[in-house]
Amino acid sequence: MAKAPPADVRSIAIDALTEPQAKKELAALARELTEHDRRYYQQDAPTISDEQYDALRRRNEAIEACFPALVRADSPSKRVGAPVASGFKKVVHSAPMLSLQNAFSEEEVRDFTDRIRRFLSLPEGEPVALVAEPKIDGLSASLRYENGKYVRGATRGDGITGEDVTANIATIAGVPKTIRGAPAVLEVRGEVYMGGEELVRLNAAQEKAGKQQYANRRNAAAGSLRQIDPAVTGKRQLKFFAYSPGEVSAVSWDSQWEFLQKLQKWGFPTNPLAKRCATVEEALALHRDIGAGRKGLGYDIDGVVYKVDRLDWQQRLGMVSRAPRWALAHKFAAEQAETIVRKIVVYVGRTGALTPLAQVEPVQVGGVTIANIGLHNEDVVAEKDVREGDTVIIQRAGDVIPQLVSVVLDKRKRGARKWHVPERCPICGSAAVREEDEAVRRCTGGLICSAQAVERLIHFSSRLAFDIRGLGDIQIAQFWENGDIQEPADIFTLPKRAEQLTPPLSERPGWGETKMRNLFSAINARRTIALDRLLYSLGIRHVGESTARLLAMHFGSLEALRSTLDAARDEDSDARAALDAIDQVGPVLAQALIDFFQEPANRKVIDDLVQVVTVEDFAKPVSTSEISGKTIVFTGTLEKMTRDEAKARAQQLGAKVAGSVSKKTDLVVLGPGAGSKAKDAERLGIKTIDEDEWLKLAGK
Ligand code: IVH
Repeated sequence: MAKAPPADVRSIAIDALTEPQAKKELAALARELTEHDRRYYQQDAPTISDEQYDALRRRNEAIEACFPALVRADSPSKRVGAPVASGFKKVVHSAPMLSLQNAFSEEEVRDFTDRIRRFLSLPEGEPVALVAEPKIDGLSASLRYENGKYVRGATRGDGITGEDVTANIATIAGVPKTIRGAPAVLEVRGEVYMGGEELVRLNAAQEKAGKQQYANRRNAAAGSLRQIDPAVTGKRQLKFFAYSPGEVSAVSWDSQWEFLQKLQKWGFPTNPLAKRCATVEEALALHRDIGAGRKGLGYDIDGVVYKVDRLDWQQRLGMVSRAPRWALAHKFAAEQAETIVRKIVVYVGRTGALTPLAQVEPVQVGGVTIANIGLHNEDVVAEKDVREGDTVIIQRAGDVIPQLVSVVLDKRKRGARKWHVPERCPICGSAAVREEDEAVRRCTGGLICSAQAVERLIHFSSRLAFDIRGLGDIQIAQFWENGDIQEPADIFTLPKRAEQLTPPLSERPGWGETKMRNLFSAINARRTIALDRLLYSLGIRHVGESTARLLAMHFGSLEALRSTLDAARDEDSDARAALDAIDQVGPVLAQALIDFFQEPANRKVIDDLVQVVTVEDFAKPVSTSEISGKTIVFTGTLEKMTRDEAKARAQQLGAKVAGSVSKKTDLVVLGPGAGSKAKDAERLGIKTIDEDEWLKLAGK
């Protein structure tokens, strides 16, 4: 199976997340963002676009804002910028390595010079001379010389701290080791890049060696510079353009233009296209020229950088956040290319989301060969009306992910047929359904769909579901890959089969006798399961912990639930009406349940499971309890029982447990540290009790 494209940012609205869902998602986001950071910063091989990455980060932050108690110690929100990869010493830059403000239109560039003129109170018409230089698409580095000798080379890192790559930079052709006539301390900053056909050569060699290919020259340059063995860097044909000063003990130039001349005199390579422009219009003309000739340069550039030439003006202008006010990066429009869609295929992600993908005739865009373009969802395909055989315009903006811009309708072949997303999952054949208000269609195969199975099994054995200790993400993935566990029932037959597996479990690395014994006893301890946990464990869409309990409470037994759902398939049936009428069961949930229990694959999963576990019917709530039928909110920390336990007990006594205080709340249990919910209760005049009173009520 081909690798699935990156999963869509999750579709559950943040305000609809329950606490356990939020917790789970924060854990998943921490894991994923760490992995993306690692791929980006340490392997130089990102698999998602900058926008997708930002969306994940924003979602993490938004969930944290709603559930401050769930913020993890390892939350991505606590990390800023690029972590320094292990293997290199850290270097704190003596002067921070700045970033640049961006502009995308000529208008914005004119605004930039107007702003400068105003800032410096220059008279109307006084020209602001700019040095315009190509913006090299590589990675910036800082080279330090002391008394004319090269002593250190560092990557930018987060701008404050970088990595010590002294030996690696020393291998780059053209980087001087000694310079004459330089100030005692001189830091020269510039861009390390890869040019010519080096990427093609390198990727061919990587492929031969069974190693990962680099997506573009920038990633290849970064990956090559950050080799632990500098000899490897030396073989990679990297190059360097110098363009700005870092720490300097004695500045002997008055302008950027003069500085560039000095760099050349000291022996540094500088970009031959750099030019001093007397006016902004001259700079814009250069941008057009450079843009027109960019394909023939032999290295990648993504815009033109304008710098106020006069140093005294630079000093007066200073900084805005972490970019100089005196410089601007004028980016080129995204590079586009025309190609033909060979086929539209569908990938199934971890959550079962079906994502269409256009396989196109491979074309070069921005120095990278594009063969696949993600189309997000069926609405995107419909809106752009992409069909197999169509000629399309694609583009690559500043990042690695290509986009489909439009279809060239004039070139559409006769008989090209409109494309529709399949109604069955291409992996497992189960129905793929799209719910109202959802952009994606999802496979309902759940546990039997190999694209989703591992995630589902992990959920199945998680704490609020079957709670099988010792059967975590890693173990499940291994058992799955080895074919030992394919569906939940297999977990319960595992102890018996352990020694018949190939290789037998006891012979696998990491599986000592104690570990096996512990796993088997954890499995055996769960051969009886409460109905609500069972329902939760199945991973039915919209069935979280509290919905599972509600269903268990209402139906009492699995058989009762199943027979109602079977009867409710007919939308006009009494059973359907009865289902919809259950308090808190809306049509969306009803449909999700019906779809799940209708799917033969899911029915088999359940049938197999009940052969090996006993499902306890749900004990009807003790209706004589004082709190039966009431709505309770727990807040603050409970000291004598966990929040989960308190919740379960309240529900067992027939109460509803809510997450926030409203007019409908009957009782608020306040633990120490209760905050806004205590105030809400007071404001609304709702009865509050402390933990001891709660324990009495709960009969504990
Ligand atoms: S000047 C204070 N000049 O662009 C000035 N940067 O988006 C800081 N870059 O991190 C940079 N070509 O990696 C400058 N001619 C050029 C450049 C250039 C490429 C990169 C550099 C920087 C990034 C900012």
